[in-house]
Amino acid sequence: MELNTNAKVGIVGLGLMGTSIATALLINGQKVIALEPIPSNTDQNTPNRILRALEECYREGLSTVPAGDLFKKIKFTSDYTDLKPCWLVMECVLEDLKIKQEVYGKIESSVPDEVIIATNTSAMPISMLQNCLKVPERFFGMHWAEPAYTSKFLEIVCGEKSPLEVGEQLYAVTKKWGKEPTLVRKDIRGFITNRIMYAMYREAFHLVENGYATIEDVDRACKNDGGHWMTFCGLFRYMDLTGLQAYHSVMKDLFPELSNQTTVPKLINEIAKEGGNGIFNGKGFYEYTSEEAKAWESTFEKFKFDINRLSSTYTDKTKDISSLKTKK
Ligand SMILES: NC(=O)c1ccc[n+]([C@@H]2O[C@H](COP(=O)([O-])OP(=O)(O)OC[C@H]3O[C@@H](n4cnc5c(N)ncnc54)[C@H](O)[C@@H]3O)[C@@H](O)[C@H]2O)c1
Repeated sequence: MELNTNAKVGIVGLGLMGTSIATALLINGQKVIALEPIPSNTDQNTPNRILRALEECYREGLSTVPAGDLFKKIKFTSDYTDLKPCWLVMECVLEDLKIKQEVYGKIESSVPDEVIIATNTSAMPISMLQNCLKVPERFFGMHWAEPAYTSKFLEIVCGEKSPLEVGEQLYAVTKKWGKEPTLVRKDIRGFITNRIMYAMYREAFHLVENGYATIEDVDRACKNDGGHWMTFCGLFRYMDLTGLQAYHSVMKDLFPELSNQTTVPKLINEIAKEGGNGIFNGKGFYEYTSEEAKAWESTFEKFKFDINRLSSTYTDKTKDISSLKTKK
């Protein structure tokens, strides 16, 4: 099956991720049809949010085309039949099985059978979701990170019934979108990064809840250890770079002592039950005044462009090193 990737890409759900993904596609030359399933959930700010993100991408050098010109390449709608000219439709609605299932029914009855349908689910198994479709073989996970336009992260995930060769084509297309994608060939809950990150979150709660360290110290340690090298290379390369023998010895002693708790930690349970939502309402693991919340948000925004630039520089350098293998 050959994908006609010159056609448009549809996005269903224009919340945080849907608008961010639309921006990422537009700055990489892809025309977009953006559908909000519940028009009353969006305000007139949704198109504005995309326009502002496009302006920022232009200002920061992520795009060479002025925002106004790119904005002409997106069509907003709430009518599923407008998705007909798409080669790919990406679902970005709430992480709720019933809602996703309803949305798949509407997409499938509006587009031809050869159109690929993908989900941005964070952790629902793709094999389970694809069984909600009439044509399950057309379904894949395409898991983006926020903000989709500065992050090079994208996981393509095959379910049990998704043909691997189509997954490989999606992988190739997303490289053209400026991503450094990964292909998860066999479905697993949480895919690659959420499995790794949640193993870290679990251990972080274990250390704090059992009095070994404060929240501040755990954060500082992660920022200055993993944070110091993770944009440069991944876990396996890092072990090679720093001598894998030491890791081999430590694993024998440390693995049996790591947390393997299977319930949600008490600390996050209590905050979540009281409605805490981090910087969005000032109540999280830290407290924020509205001024502090805004300052964290805008500093993080700036950082994401800076880290994108830094990681691009080093991606080029590591490509040069890899090509040494073939130069004699
Ligand atoms: N937020 C992140 O950083 C992030 C990262 C990766 C993946 N995801 C995943 O992306 C998806 C969307 O997340 P988000 O953060 O953009 O959420 P969001 O809350 O910002 O947006 C949700 C969207 O779902 C729509 N929606 C709500 N109720 C609906 C209904 N009954 N029927 C149809 N549509 C409905 C909303 O109108 C909105 O467009 C989720 O599956 C989430 O797990 C999120």
